[in-house]
Amino acid sequence: MVHPNDIVFDGWDISSLNLAEAMRRAQVLDWQLQEQLWPHMEEMKPRPSIYIPEFIAANQEERADNLIPGTKAEQVAQIRRDIRDFRERSGVDKVIVLWTANTERFCDVRPGLNDTADHLLQAIERGLEVSPSTLFAVASILEGCAYINGSPQNTFVPGAVELAVQRGVFICGDDFKSGQTKLKSVLVDFLVGAGLKTVSIVSYNPLGNNDGKNLSAPEQFRSKEVSKSCVVDDMVQANPVLYGPHEKPDHCVVIKYVPYVGDSKRALDEYTSEIMMGGTNTIVVHNTCEDSLLASPIILDLAILTELCQRITFCTESDPDFQGFHSVLSIMAFLCKAPLVPKGTPIINALFRQRSCIENILRACVGLPPQNHMLLEHKMQRPWLSQTWACLAEPSCPVSSKKVAAQVNGHVCPASSGPGASHACLCADRDK
Ligand SMILES: NC(=O)c1ccc[n+]([C@@H]2O[C@H](COP(=O)([O-])OP(=O)(O)OC[C@H]3O[C@@H](n4cnc5c(N)ncnc54)[C@H](O)[C@@H]3O)[C@@H](O)[C@H]2O)c1
Repeated sequence: MVHPNDIVFDGWDISSLNLAEAMRRAQVLDWQLQEQLWPHMEEMKPRPSIYIPEFIAANQEERADNLIPGTKAEQVAQIRRDIRDFRERSGVDKVIVLWTANTERFCDVRPGLNDTADHLLQAIERGLEVSPSTLFAVASILEGCAYINGSPQNTFVPGAVELAVQRGVFICGDDFKSGQTKLKSVLVDFLVGAGLKTVSIVSYNPLGNNDGKNLSAPEQFRSKEVSKSCVVDDMVQANPVLYGPHEKPDHCVVIKYVPYVGDSKRALDEYTSEIMMGGTNTIVVHNTCEDSLLASPIILDLAILTELCQRITFCTESDPDFQGFHSVLSIMAFLCKAPLVPKGTPIINALFRQRSCIENILRACVGLPPQNHMLLEHKMQRPWLSQTWACLAEPSCPVSSKKVAAQVNGHVCPASSGPGASHACLCADRDK
């Protein structure tokens, strides 16, 4: 993996403050830490960016003093030049572009406007409605750079997804999964998995940083509300014993701009679940989330994992030609509130299932079988070690050593690696 210290940063902002001044304005870091960082940050100045006022809250206007002029096509051309310039000056091997600017309002998805890659490119040429984050996505994809969307809006309109697929460039998003939603994706999985029928989830968020100020406008809040609300759907749908076909919990999300709390966002959640004999179980959580400090490591992880994925190829028994991951990089779901997935793919929000996906892909990369948590070798009546070796040596064993060495996730798993019993069962299952 790329070491975080080897990452070179550059970027755009509609605000012209250098990063030291921006750090002071944000009031996130302790004063002493700011003093230490000041000389390192002072030299870093954001490049001018694309500002289309209607997409972010009107209260952001006074910050917008560092803008790329011209038409949308000219602005995309400038972003592309910036990417090339950065690549040449820094000498980096790869460029990954990540949107962590203000939440935008949703943009219309309309046939003829942005439903296909061609229509989207034509819309840019003709100056029709395209959001700044989508303009950045198009510029990045055209430059062959992976693009990550850390905000909730629908940057990846169908035309942007099609363009990424056509060009074989990774895209992933949406919206960093940092505080309240991360906890929710664990807690609801636990409640529903434990057989408690969660019927109501109410989340309040007093937030006092500039993100909160931007989200105080209804259209920008709506983007966040949508992204936060879908997070429990798959866990509910996965339990048809508790929930009927169209049944789901009442789920209400409120965000209020409270300047005093600054970046120390308060997340107050109430989870009410039905239990047996008409009883209810209510869990109330008060979580003080240091908003920016929870998001920053996620930004690094997204960039590092995306880069790693660009170096992974695999084949399967049925398709022996090596291939990479789909352009819509859904394994990043672990780090995103509203995971973007290829069309028709089930969306997984449960945090530990998402983590397990990444873990098993990384295990496959080093030739290890997937972690299945059976630990069958410790649950057997006879000692597993002697039986494993007997099983591997004995041709009449129901799970042949050939099968034990079968491909898992497209990789050959050495027959001798790992505890044999659960490994053998797993390969046998795959053959069914
Ligand atoms: N925990 C978190 O901080 C967290 C979690 C999930 C998602 N997010 C999302 O990440 C985004 C950034 O959050 P934040 O707290 O850093 O917000 P912020 O308001 O502090 O910073 C956003 C920056 O983007 C700049 N900007 C606005 N429009 C721009 C444009 N068109 N081009 C370039 N720069 C532009 C602003 O000037 C500002 O400096 C938001 O959309 C937020 O919802 C944050």
